[in-house]
Amino acid sequence: MKIEIIGDVAEYYVQTLCLLFFPGAKFSKKDSDDSHKATVVVEKKEESISSTVTITYNCKTSTKSYEQVNDENLIERTRIRIAVGKAFLAAGKAVTGVSPQWGIMTGVRPSKLALKELNEKKSTKADAKSFFQNEYLVSLKKASLLVDIASVERKIINACSKDSCSVYISIPFCPSRCSYCSFVSFTSNRLLSLIDDYMEKLTDDIKKTFDLIKELGLEVKTVYVGGGTPTTLNEPQLKLLLDTIKAQTNVDNLEEFTLEAGRPDTITADKLKVIKEGGVTRISINPQTLNSEVLEIIGRKHTVEQFYEAYELATKSGIQQINTDLIAGLPYDGFRSFSETMDSIIELRPSNITVHTLCIKNAADFAKEKSSIYSPGNVASKCVDYSQLSAKNAGYIPYYIYRQKNTIDNLENVGFCLPGCEGRYNIYMMEEVHSIFACGAGAVTKCVSPEGTNIVRVFNFKYPYEYLSDTDNSKINNKFNTIREFYKNL
Ligand SMILES: C[S@@+](CC[C@H](N)C(=O)[O-])C[C@H]1O[C@@H](n2cnc3c(N)ncnc32)[C@H](O)[C@@H]1O
Ligand code: SF4
Repeated sequence: MKIEIIGDVAEYYVQTLCLLFFPGAKFSKKDSDDSHKATVVVEKKEESISSTVTITYNCKTSTKSYEQVNDENLIERTRIRIAVGKAFLAAGKAVTGVSPQWGIMTGVRPSKLALKELNEKKSTKADAKSFFQNEYLVSLKKASLLVDIASVERKIINACSKDSCSVYISIPFCPSRCSYCSFVSFTSNRLLSLIDDYMEKLTDDIKKTFDLIKELGLEVKTVYVGGGTPTTLNEPQLKLLLDTIKAQTNVDNLEEFTLEAGRPDTITADKLKVIKEGGVTRISINPQTLNSEVLEIIGRKHTVEQFYEAYELATKSGIQQINTDLIAGLPYDGFRSFSETMDSIIELRPSNITVHTLCIKNAADFAKEKSSIYSPGNVASKCVDYSQLSAKNAGYIPYYIYRQKNTIDNLENVGFCLPGCEGRYNIYMMEEVHSIFACGAGAVTKCVSPEGTNIVRVFNFKYPYEYLSDTDNSKINNKFNTIREFYKNL
């Protein structure tokens, strides 16, 4: 798709608006084809910002304008975004007939905006909902979801001390690759043979990270071991990992200690015993779907029965909280099949259920193979509605939310929990409440100032073999120095 901009608006923002109506669109500066085109004009006036948007798509053209009167509560960038967004939405709707449920809320963390309304502007929940409906053109249903989530998060965030932090540990290995996944994760035998070397480097990284946290006078609230699939590790490797963490911090004092086991085919009673003894309080056992045919289509390489077996082992292990991940919008997973999966999961009463919507990034195998994944008439939206309604009716509350580019129907990912079982790490990480110190390949440290106004990301190596190639620890030491520098300058 071709984009033409006249005036002061970020091209990235216009691209995200295009994706609301034309999912999967590709953008090229060299595109000479005018049949799929968006032209955006922005004009700054003394008392307002006006925008005119013309969209041409499949022989249809629409031009719409919007004038945003200057409001001192909004910075100029936000005013421009609102003017362009509202004109774009009107033109897009005229050309496609689509009314995006999240309106012009794109490229921002939705719950961060909602927290700002509740916490800083002291809006009531009703006022916050109206604000999102009027200013961002968000539907009432989504505005209510957002404000409900922010009000759960608010209590947890406000109780979190300024000298707190969390630790993320990356295990980027999986037994095989799922077709929809774009996470960095190694699956071939040759690469899985790197695990022992990786663990040696990782444990050193973990020790140094905890030492630095002590040096900075911070208190670790949550630890999250994610992936990939951490239960790809065998028992001795898991024990080494968990003993290393235990030696660095009193795990009994953590608010939460998660290990994202994930793939049911990697879970055994012996591994769960090691995990429980290591102090883990929250574990994920993820089916994604309970439809056998769909599991096969997405290359998940485990059966529905294996999920139930792994889930039962997890309940017997005594680990306090179990999370289950589902994905709405998987190919060939119709509404009936998704709703049956959701009902069956609710029957198990896990403390957390996380419902993602399928998102296709270039690194996923699906991106190459399944061009029709975004075809109209996708039932994802109905599935997401069902998940939210059935979770609510079963006593679950939504406690965290995030949205990603290239997600089917621009839908959201929502974490539900039984009251009091909120996944704390998810909230701290998503709302950038405090620093998250990351260990391992593919993990990104995020330094957050106590007021949350200054955020610096420190990237580690993306791939395990790069991580292992840092034999003199120069890159890891750079990470620690950047973190020290950040705290020195506070
Ligand atoms: C980091 S992944 C790893 C979890 C674990 N390896 C597993 O597969 O069970 C966390 C979750 O993200 C979700 N996910 C991964 N790729 C996705 C995609 N392309 N679209 C939507 N959700 C996705 C899945 O629900 C998955 O359980
Ligand atoms: S979805 Fe999970 S198991 Fe599948 S490849 Fe991605 S990280 Fe690995």
